[in-house]
Amino acid sequence: PAPGWSLDADVVVVGSGVAGLTAALRCAAGGRRTVVVTKARLDDGSTRWAQGGIAAALGDGDTPEQHLDDTLVAGAGLCDEEAVRLLVTEGPDAVRRLMAAGAVFDTSAETGEIELTREGGHHRRRIAHAGGDATGAEISRALVEAVQAAGIETVENALVLDLLQDAQGRTAGVTLHVMGEGQHDGVGAVHAPAVILATGGMGQVFSATTNPSVSTGDGVALALRAGAEVSDLEFVQFHPTVLFLGPEAEGQQPLVSEAVRGEGAYLVDGDGVRFMVGQHELAELAPRDIVAKGIMRRMQEQGAQHMYLDARHFGAQMWEQRFPTILAACRTHGIDPVTEPIPVAPAAHYASGGVRTDLHGRTTVRGLYACGEVACTGVHGANRLASNSLLEGLVFAERIADDIATQRYGGNGPVVPVPATGPLQPAEARHEIQRIMTDGAGVLRSAASLATAAEALEALYATALNELDAHGKTAEPGVDTWEATNLLCVARVLVAAAQRREETRGCHWREDHPDRDDADWRRHLVVRLSATEK
Ligand code: SIN
Repeated sequence: PAPGWSLDADVVVVGSGVAGLTAALRCAAGGRRTVVVTKARLDDGSTRWAQGGIAAALGDGDTPEQHLDDTLVAGAGLCDEEAVRLLVTEGPDAVRRLMAAGAVFDTSAETGEIELTREGGHHRRRIAHAGGDATGAEISRALVEAVQAAGIETVENALVLDLLQDAQGRTAGVTLHVMGEGQHDGVGAVHAPAVILATGGMGQVFSATTNPSVSTGDGVALALRAGAEVSDLEFVQFHPTVLFLGPEAEGQQPLVSEAVRGEGAYLVDGDGVRFMVGQHELAELAPRDIVAKGIMRRMQEQGAQHMYLDARHFGAQMWEQRFPTILAACRTHGIDPVTEPIPVAPAAHYASGGVRTDLHGRTTVRGLYACGEVACTGVHGANRLASNSLLEGLVFAERIADDIATQRYGGNGPVVPVPATGPLQPAEARHEIQRIMTDGAGVLRSAASLATAAEALEALYATALNELDAHGKTAEPGVDTWEATNLLCVARVLVAAAQRREETRGCHWREDHPDRDDADWRRHLVVRLSATEK
């Protein structure tokens, strides 16, 4: 649809988590006219839900080199070492700048030093946290306040639709669908020669996820439609310990942070046996993919729907002080972790892949940047190390703002109309896509399960296309139908990549190819849609 309103800016930031707001603050501080657009309210994205914390070599005796080693091991041979080196060396100062901007982290009552915890895959205490287990909420609070204090223009309830480009394919802004925001209501556009995608992840492509309902892969879908390269989409990380609310539970599920294991909780089966001991030198604190697989195997062996996390030995006081958010979530669902083990099972948590970028966050489309979970910078490889995601958002947001500061934009030709992007999916398709993906492309995958998923997704696409071709009808444009369309777009690419990668590596687990195959598969799957595929 033709835009009914428009804004002009130097930079438009799409998304308002740690990546988007950090980038916006730095672009604005550098004198760029910056507009932030975000799909719901400013603090409604994934950042607010982050519990465990933010990893950085801040502790005595820790070094970026050790953080690098742990990150590379977790990434299972597919990290870009140069990107990881930037992450771990620039990370500590980026966290200090975040503190200077107002984020308050937990400190030790005795020493006043920042308190650090452990999580899976880290060989030492390296995770800064806030409010016990409410790190993301504190970071979000501080950044939202800083953005408001800086007077940066924001448009909320603004679902991004497509990238605007000129005839040379250069970025010229974005189109948006805005609901109920006064002068910016309806379909509109922000014109800008630089667009930073910071739209977060795509966890909602699965039935059960730790991600909020807004995480529908919008940035990856937009980038694909704009002709940008996307990489590593098959590497979906399943968090091992998500509160189990029954086999039919759908949508966002409560996370039980790795930090609970970092502080000494055990994983046990229904007989009370610690099944991770002996499977890995770090037992419950092995990298996330190994713990998720350990849980799934034990569930299969015992025909169980979940395992248990036992932290009764923390006692009431420690639970209340250190993990108040998790304690409250468990109690809301009738479980008291002080007196009983917590039922847990893996659920979709993080997209390690995304829109492919270089070390400055540049995508393959000129003027389009990607940052945070939507991006594939190379730091996560086949499996992200715990608590590296907030850090990636911070470090690469700063790098993007610094790159934009050196660019001379201008001279864009007239904006070309956004090409038709195929039929819109009906809102009900969301549920169907989630079911298909969980059944066929979840933690355990095989050629057969993936083929079934691919076929079912193609059928959804074909049905909508036939409606359009035969009757000229498409679903009513709106947030629900755009989200369903984006979910289908990313699900199809994800499944195609998972079918191609005939090995098990990191968080991609093929039952029919159980081994890692470095000879054939130590490489990335990069996807770019052709005009006819859009
Ligand atoms: C957690 O607190 O377990 C989540 C940390 C992460 O996803 O990095």
